[in-house]
Amino acid sequence: MFAAQCSGCHSLIGNESLRRQGGDLVHFRMTASQLLQFAREMPTRRVLSNLELAAVVAYVHAAQGNR
Ligand code: HEC
Repeated sequence: MFAAQCSGCHSLIGNESLRRQGGDLVHFRMTASQLLQFAREMPTRRVLSNLELAAVVAYVHAAQGNR
């Protein structure tokens, strides 16, 4: 889900070397609900279902080192 819907504008590797317009997301410390808020507002290729949003938020949240 991240690869298909987010990686065009964001990386998740901890640095900005890929120069994506939305930047790298690893170093943000956000709650899952803050992340969900952002994910909902992103200009993804298509509108994501609540289930898809929950999945991608869980993935990014885990990558950020949160449990
Ligand atoms: C068409 C480009 C685009 C897509 C696709 C996109 N984003 Fe973004 N996103 C941005 C931009 C631009 C910002 C604002 C970056 C800034 O202010 O530094 C942003 C900001 C964010 C932020 C807040 C952190 C920040 O840098 O301010 C989060 C979290 C985020 N995006 C998550 C996601 C997720 C999750 C997805 C996939 C579901 C996604 N984005 C898809 C362009 C995109």
